[in-house]
Amino acid sequence: MKNTISSVLLGMFFTACSLTMEAQQTNIQVNYKDARHVINPNIYGHFAEHLGRCIYGGFFVGDTSSIPNTNGVRNDVVAALKTLKIPVLRWPGGCFADTYHWKDGIGPKEKRPAIVNRWWGGVTEDNSFGVHDFLNMCELLNTEPYLAGNIGSGTVQELADWVQYVNTNTKNPMSDLRKQNGREKPWNVKFWGVGNEAWGCGGNMTPEYYTGEYRKYATFMADWSNTDKIFRVASGANSTDYKWTETIMKNIPNQMVEGVALHHYSVIDWGAKGPSTDFTEQQYFITMQRALQMDSLVIKHSAIMDKYDPKKKIALIVDEWGGWYDVEPGTNPGFLYQQNTIRDAMIAGVTLNIFNNHADRVRMANLAQAINVLQAVILTDKEKMILTPTYHVMEMFNVHQGATMLPVSFKTNNYVFNGKKLAAVSVSASKDSTGAVHLSLVNIDPAKAQKITFNTGDEKVAGITGRILASGKLQDYNSFTEPAKVKPEAFTGAVLNNNTVTVSLPPASVVVLTIK
Ligand code: AHR
Repeated sequence: MKNTISSVLLGMFFTACSLTMEAQQTNIQVNYKDARHVINPNIYGHFAEHLGRCIYGGFFVGDTSSIPNTNGVRNDVVAALKTLKIPVLRWPGGCFADTYHWKDGIGPKEKRPAIVNRWWGGVTEDNSFGVHDFLNMCELLNTEPYLAGNIGSGTVQELADWVQYVNTNTKNPMSDLRKQNGREKPWNVKFWGVGNEAWGCGGNMTPEYYTGEYRKYATFMADWSNTDKIFRVASGANSTDYKWTETIMKNIPNQMVEGVALHHYSVIDWGAKGPSTDFTEQQYFITMQRALQMDSLVIKHSAIMDKYDPKKKIALIVDEWGGWYDVEPGTNPGFLYQQNTIRDAMIAGVTLNIFNNHADRVRMANLAQAINVLQAVILTDKEKMILTPTYHVMEMFNVHQGATMLPVSFKTNNYVFNGKKLAAVSVSASKDSTGAVHLSLVNIDPAKAQKITFNTGDEKVAGITGRILASGKLQDYNSFTEPAKVKPEAFTGAVLNNNTVTVSLPPASVVVLTIK
């Protein structure tokens, strides 16, 4: 441990020398004694929709492909996602979910109907990646499936049958059909979405109408006492639509719903989203404003939920979040393919800190989306695959999965642009089962370094290690020709002195520290 401390001290010296005179001071109070809530690993969840090249070309290439695969699923993707430790994967949409008829995606592939993917590019969906393909892939990835049910264009019977097909062993037509299709044991899928964006692509419903529909579908997905303990997620609000959450909580009995969703994208303006790489500082500032808004959204939606569920039994499930920009020039506008820069690393860092800090209510979140769509963690180009800055942040943060959240309090400096202000520093902390404390720090200010101090509590600390993700410019990204331009490095800018740690946080950086 001595070595760790002295190398940290040395690193601190060099970093201190390189810091500008403008370094700002933030003192963080870590409240070790108030550790109560476990950070649900599912906060680090992902989302895979039949949209653009997320499934086809992203996850799935088919078993006749020359790209190395297991039952058609890319081996490079499986390895990368296993390293990431993805706890849960939502499928098949998104908007696609309310057009998806799951029986189209079972049985011999050559007999599956080809349909038009009407939300996303109007392309042919041949259903070659279906129910078994997805659920078996989840087993390969060691991840929990989260199925989004179709209540927009499907029927109550169809969704009830889907639950039976994947979850029952008792003899019935659905379990027989599953066995006939080659799967003896049920998959026991726990997480079920009851529709998606019911206020929009899921059926343009009013909240009152949706809650009536929800009650009907949810009734037939379970039995009287939900013996199988499936976890039903009500389609949730669009960002600030608090009336939606209020109506859901008021009209659906608590015992009929286990989770309520929320969708929020960091989009500058739906009519002018701006480019994913060649953006201005003004566009960066607005994007970060939208990302930081997640905190007040979680607080306000949770406060509504508290009125009807004071014991917080029902989870807030942020099952779509992330940055949304213009598609890459020359790509299909319906495919939502965008690059991923340091700006996205900042969005990921601050958002995951927000979720960690609200671990009492936020118990699942799904980044939109895993591969080749919106704020992806992986991009593919035929046989090539790259990891994005967002991937690296999610991998660095995975130490928080299942750890106990340590509340933090602090007053941060501002990142000021054109006279407008945003909190420059974001932080969350947790203690894992081995007793190690992890602190994730984000400085969104692209020009000013931050000097941070925090206390290590009463316990004796042997040393600190850390990793950092940063790059020369906010616009830096990994490309197929330069795949490792942005990647985590060892961080040596933290120094321990008695029970105080001082950290020099460079501009636009994400740092995760481990204190043992
Ligand atoms: O993630 C892309 C789309 O955004 C989803 O299909 C939909 O639910 C949301 O509007």
